[in-house]
Amino acid sequence: MEIVKNIVWHSATITKDDRHRMNGHKSAILWYTGLSGAGKSTLANKVEEKLFERGYHTYVLDGDNIRMGLNKGLGFDADSRKENIRRIGEVAKLFVDAGVIVSTAFVSPYIEDRDMVRQLVKDGEFIEIFVAASLEVCEGRDTKGLYKKARAGEIKNFTGISDPYEAPVHPELTVDTGSQTLDESAQVVLNYLEEKGYIEKA
Ligand code: ADX
Repeated sequence: MEIVKNIVWHSATITKDDRHRMNGHKSAILWYTGLSGAGKSTLANKVEEKLFERGYHTYVLDGDNIRMGLNKGLGFDADSRKENIRRIGEVAKLFVDAGVIVSTAFVSPYIEDRDMVRQLVKDGEFIEIFVAASLEVCEGRDTKGLYKKARAGEIKNFTGISDPYEAPVHPELTVDTGSQTLDESAQVVLNYLEEKGYIEKA
């Protein structure tokens, strides 16, 4: 029994395995990482849609949305990003515990922070997906107009411009949204999930 400052962990009566049996599938985190504008949210939502249609229990945690609620007030310096990712990691772990295939769409630029989340869950429960559109492609899209502002010096610590992005060294998957269509990228993810036995073959 672990006791941390008068807080005692209470083991659940209904376990993760029970929930997997009830749901008919395992749970995991699909961790999408990449530059702003790489298409993480779009891809995460497309894959979720396909999984949902096939009867899987899914949820998407999305960077901009989480920063408007749970993580309101956190900035973009390295410590704030670490705290952002730590909280998301803990929430994602709860979803895994609840039997859900949870997708997260965060820039998550630091290897150390992503690895911290990987360590939170069991082997095979963290699937790192590098959404690898180049800076040129992302800046060319500039869907939110943020690259323009960053270039003008109006946004500090902007990933790719004035802040680093550390690409994954051994991600489970890499998708190039600059050269693939959305459906092709989504299919890459679904194929992986099928091959590794997370989901049934279509
Ligand atoms: S993370 O680095 O902490 O993982 P997160 O994914 O939550 O970032 O938020 C990134 C989103 O916030 C971007 O898609 C963009 O819309 C917006 N944003 C605002 N300022 C910045 C910045 N300095 N760097 C990166 N993204 C920023």
